[in-house]
Amino acid sequence: MIKRKIILDCDPGHDDAIAIMLAAKSQAIDLLGITVVAGNQTLDKTVVNALNVCQYLNLDIPVYRGCENPMIRDKQIVADDIHGDSGLDGPKFEPLNREVEKQHGVLYIIDTLLKSEGDITVVTTGPMTNLAMAIRLCPEILPKIQEIVLMGGCYQLGNMTPAAEFNVLADGDAAHVVFTCGRKITMVGLDVTRKVLCLPSVMERMAKTQNKASKLFIDLMTFFNKSQNEVFGWAGGPLHDPVTIAYLIDPSVLTTKEMFTQIDIRSEQSYGRTNCDYFNYFKKKPNSNVSIDIDVEKFWDIIEEGIKAYN
Ligand code: RIB
Ligand code: CA
Repeated sequence: MIKRKIILDCDPGHDDAIAIMLAAKSQAIDLLGITVVAGNQTLDKTVVNALNVCQYLNLDIPVYRGCENPMIRDKQIVADDIHGDSGLDGPKFEPLNREVEKQHGVLYIIDTLLKSEGDITVVTTGPMTNLAMAIRLCPEILPKIQEIVLMGGCYQLGNMTPAAEFNVLADGDAAHVVFTCGRKITMVGLDVTRKVLCLPSVMERMAKTQNKASKLFIDLMTFFNKSQNEVFGWAGGPLHDPVTIAYLIDPSVLTTKEMFTQIDIRSEQSYGRTNCDYFNYFKKKPNSNVSIDIDVEKFWDIIEEGIKAYN
């Protein structure tokens, strides 16, 4: 099987951590590097969280520090109500002795793509600041990006405002740069991630595999489920970010529809809205494959296999 080479840009974050876990040991994926962005928590915290996950799972994957603020917006928002003060509340980690790479994450993205054969997929599961900055700094990387698979947006209800999803709201301008870059985009929005709720039955299933990955999954999701229930009333937390990785492992897990998507970066009320033209009102060339459904059973099978890969 030819492995999909990926760069994973993330803001760990409970669900980002599981995306790292799933990608790192998959036979279908070659995780080249992890670039970190501010999002669920401040950059100092999301970097530590990414390093802790790699150390705990004994992953020999370089971690790079990216952007700590949005491209234009003055204020960086966080999601501490969901992810806690550390951004990864719940698990207890050993003292950290992993170090972040010296190179800036944006420069790592540029260098890696420029040196490649054009066979790298960029996966973003946080605000898209790092990827957008790389595109603006060095547009020559664009033909080298095989595909962008992003967790973000929604064509229905937002989760931070009625209109907007967190990753896009946090840096709508960056999302605008990405959605206008002309490369193939697969958008994994709330419309499908809210269908993969980590219910008690899922927790019981994943706990049956007794290894360090299942322990991390349970420790992460115990906290995440509680906060998601308190904020949204969900019976289980929606496992947003790993859906991007599950799609790369088995694309049939998602049903997508080509749409012209534009980001609202002008309005106050709906800033960060992914306006996905589901009914093609504007008759514009689609720029994204928007996820409209997910095979829930297949997704949890992929997650369970991902946990068992650590046996
Ligand atoms: O809206 C959900 C997204 O925002 C997920 O990626 C979560 O980790 C946060 O980054
Ligand atoms: Ca995330």
